[in-house]
Amino acid sequence: MKSFPFTAVGLSISVSAAAVLAAFAVPQPASAQDSNAPSAAASARAQTVARGKYLVTVAGCNDCHTPWKMGAAGPEPDMSRMLSGHPQDAQLPSAPQLPEGPWVVAVAATNTAWSGPWGVSYTANLTPDRETGLGKWTLRNFSDTIRSGRHMGRGREVLPPMPIQMYKHFTDDDLEAIYGYLRTIPAVENRVPEPLPPAAK
Ligand code: HEC
Repeated sequence: MKSFPFTAVGLSISVSAAAVLAAFAVPQPASAQDSNAPSAAASARAQTVARGKYLVTVAGCNDCHTPWKMGAAGPEPDMSRMLSGHPQDAQLPSAPQLPEGPWVVAVAATNTAWSGPWGVSYTANLTPDRETGLGKWTLRNFSDTIRSGRHMGRGREVLPPMPIQMYKHFTDDDLEAIYGYLRTIPAVENRVPEPLPPAAK
């Protein structure tokens, strides 16, 4: 009886690992499948990445970090530029004069450039491109940024509307999964501009 829960856990792990491998469509000849069963480390890793993909999807990272385009049913994230941040080639005029509250924010059509009382912020490139994305970031750099709300834990403050106040509550496991997933997505070379300070009155 005592061994039952362990059996059940082992079973559910191997089933979802198989689902992950199927989703990524890892090409493997049928004959090699039995002898080359993925190692425990590889299937744990695949599960972490799948969990990270789920968290990125439901936490809405694509809302702001993937440029939006006009689709058949209205604006939608352009997944061919997934999580690559504010497009470097977007030609934006200067941000409009902000009204006196309660309307305080203006957003570009791409949903990647935001003008508010903090100035103008542009969403970051989260792809693994080494020069313009998170390619050189360690897990530590990533979790320090999200936890402290400062670039890599010690640089400048991360500006709105990045939901730092909420995301700092991600668990260590969540942050590791998100980071792990972000390392597997296609690298996009896209240099996001630096933010602009609030316009002088
Ligand atoms: C509501 C919009 C919004 C959402 C949702 C959002 N971000 Fe951001 N994010 C931003 C903006 C804007 C910036 C740039 C802020 C700045 O320049 O200070 C940013 C910056 C970042 C940075 C770079 C910080 C740095 O110091 O270089 C990381 C990493 C990041 N976001 C990760 C994520 C992840 C992961 C998610 C989903 C879990 C996410 N963001 C969801 C708006 C958003």
